Amino acid sequence: MEITYYGQSCFLIKIGNHSVLFDPFISPNELAKDIDVNSIRADYILLSHGHQDHVHDAEQIAKNSDATLIANFEIVGWFTEKGIKKSHPMNTGGKVTLPFGTVKMVNAVHSSSMPDGSYGGVAAGFVVETEDKAFYFAGDTALTYDMKLIPEQFDLDFAILPIGDNFTMDIHDALVAADFVQVDKVIGMHYDTFPYIEIDHEEVKEVAQMAGKELILMEIGQTINL
Ligand code: NI
Ligand code: MN
Repeated sequence: MEITYYGQSCFLIKIGNHSVLFDPFISPNELAKDIDVNSIRADYILLSHGHQDHVHDAEQIAKNSDATLIANFEIVGWFTEKGIKKSHPMNTGGKVTLPFGTVKMVNAVHSSSMPDGSYGGVAAGFVVETEDKAFYFAGDTALTYDMKLIPEQFDLDFAILPIGDNFTMDIHDALVAADFVQVDKVIGMHYDTFPYIEIDHEEVKEVAQMAGKELILMEIGQTINL
């Protein structure tokens, strides 16, 4: 599984022949100014919730790629009005089997409105189970006991968790979340993009190490294989 980071909560994950993009927010992100949005191609775009810092570039990339948009019913409706042709609406607790694997939409404790202020349904995370690996993309969320349900149904290899605090979990809560979902490998997201969520990289890595977890903080534009 090849994972490329585009800043904030945006990851492009190559699963076999399929490219799956999560929460694209690239062109307004000063930290991601070297990334050309028009160079990104995706087969599927998964959106955790409607906030600007998760959906800003979804329309453009979906249109460039003829990608299928996967999100809650309200978000899909909003993008359909913008001319997105291929989509699959879901809601919390539901799952869908796609050519790259199964996607289950799980609870997130957060809000969700669209960039224009219209209703964005409820915020969610995704559990993706493929032939190769299974992982949890938490979206924006607080720490919640609901996470304990995930390892009852899935054997995860890693989790992508927000660590920036203020709007989501901080590193301490994220490490508890990693225990709840039973992973030792965490990719951090949702940090440094705005002053509210700036973190000390050395400090969070140390905290993770002391908790016995591997915390991966990817460079923007970096690709890793897991
Ligand atoms: Ni949010
Ligand atoms: Mn956010």
